[in-house]
Amino acid sequence: MLSFNRHRRLRQNGTIRRMMRENHLSPADFIYPLFVLEGEGIIKEIPSMPKVFHYSLDQLGAELDEVVELGIPSIILFGVPNDKDACGSEAYAENGIVQQAIRFAKERYPDLYVMADTCLCQYTDHGHCGIVENGHIHNDHSLEVLVKTAVSQAKAGADMIAPSNMMDGFVTAIRQGLDEAGFEDVPILSYAVKYASAFYGPFREAVDSTPQFGDRRTYQMDPANSREALREAASDVAEGADVLMVKPGLAYMDIIRQLHDRFDLPVTAYNVSGEYSMVKAAAEQGWINERRVVLELLTGMKRAGAELILTYHAKDASRWLKEENK
Ligand code: PBG
Repeated sequence: MLSFNRHRRLRQNGTIRRMMRENHLSPADFIYPLFVLEGEGIIKEIPSMPKVFHYSLDQLGAELDEVVELGIPSIILFGVPNDKDACGSEAYAENGIVQQAIRFAKERYPDLYVMADTCLCQYTDHGHCGIVENGHIHNDHSLEVLVKTAVSQAKAGADMIAPSNMMDGFVTAIRQGLDEAGFEDVPILSYAVKYASAFYGPFREAVDSTPQFGDRRTYQMDPANSREALREAASDVAEGADVLMVKPGLAYMDIIRQLHDRFDLPVTAYNVSGEYSMVKAAAEQGWINERRVVLELLTGMKRAGAELILTYHAKDASRWLKEENK
């Protein structure tokens, strides 16, 4: 008589499989990224990101309707300004494109949770995430501009500030700035662990933020490192971050898991542009089943320990999940 475990007992049919499922994906897990730009009557598809568009404000309403209708609780806004300069002044302009978009979204949907990405790379003419001095990104001078940006976003009505710039001390500086301006209840979602990744390519094309000299490796992390990720996260926890983010997601599932196990804060995974484009390209070729692959990837991020997933697939995934739960 052979002796072994019969794992297949719990996989015999759909009912028992559903009962045994350990992780569940839901539209409530998603944060949907939206790109807004100045002008009128613009809905422009990003060539390397099929079905992802740039919207001028007058076109944003229908998109928000769809997001809300699908049960996605949250969006994050990325601005594409007309004018860029050395210090990214459109990032903190009272009537900057993101500030306008925040006001618009909150007016139309007070319950939609609106996050603001706090960075300078879309707003600087050199394309770096901070202030450049003598050919270097000056950490502490960058913080001053980032604080102004975060406060202006909170003033416009942002529910959460999501700094993605990877300067040291940005949580301390932004927390202090928000508190002093009376926004002590606005949480900070820190892109605590952000790698210098090739997976950002389509996004940079979308917002025209490719660095004009050098690269981002003096502030974004080396993909080879995981212990350094724990140091980055520990600093942000100590500085008062409310939520941690790991970016990108796919190649960094181990980091998501480690942050989840090591810290008590919620963890968000950013399923970035290049990850989206790869799936889309393969699906268009008929090489993969898009629906199954997307749900598998997003479930994988949850299984790795992400409470929230920032993803361009959010609308499709929400639609598919609705169908599956029928
Ligand atoms: C930078 C920023 C990046 C992304 C969003 N904000 C990365 C970068 O250009 O270095 C990438 C997002 C994506 O690829 O989906 N603040």
